[in-house]
Amino acid sequence: MNKDILKVLIGEEEIEAIVSDIASRIDRDYADLNGKLVLVAILKGSVVFMGDLMKKVTLPVEIDFMKVSSYGSGTKSTGNINIHLDLQRHDIDQCNILIVEDIIDSGKTLSHLVHYLKLKGAKSVKTCTLLDKPSRREVDFEADYVGCQIPDEFVVGYGLDFDEKYRALPYIGILKPEAYAN
Ligand code: IMP
Ligand code: MG
Repeated sequence: MNKDILKVLIGEEEIEAIVSDIASRIDRDYADLNGKLVLVAILKGSVVFMGDLMKKVTLPVEIDFMKVSSYGSGTKSTGNINIHLDLQRHDIDQCNILIVEDIIDSGKTLSHLVHYLKLKGAKSVKTCTLLDKPSRREVDFEADYVGCQIPDEFVVGYGLDFDEKYRALPYIGILKPEAYAN
């Protein structure tokens, strides 16, 4: 195990089972689809989840990427998002978009993104997150697919980072407090 990890919260086998379960629900729910199914991963944290999920979904999918950051302080709870990389598509009205996110915390990122993609004219917009910290929510938001609810701990691995580190760990772990200090 990595020396900075206090505890493995979700191991590799459990992650695989969670991703398989989400993929089969997507297969079932989108079986009678009109238009395209486009998985949109939010960079960078969702890259590992996206890679595994897209292999397990058996329906034909297209993939795309966005990079966003949320801003707005605790007092300004509606916040907003900065879009650093947007979709470059001319067919958005034919796209059923499923946003693939690593973790929901305040809920601001996904709630704004859903609103934004609907305004852009997507045929449908749903959301999928591997992890969810419901106790941290600042805006009213529920994802359509949630892999696992976790307590209010800062987690890394399987795409998630602290200061750009630990993304490549194959499991999701809780970081030792001293790893934040360095
Ligand atoms: P929010 O739901 O808009 O507050 O933001 C969710 C984003 O915050 C995620 O996409 C992550 O980038 C980041 N984040 C929240 N909690 C964690 C964590 O425990 N580890 C790593 N990144 C996190
Ligand atoms: Mg993220």
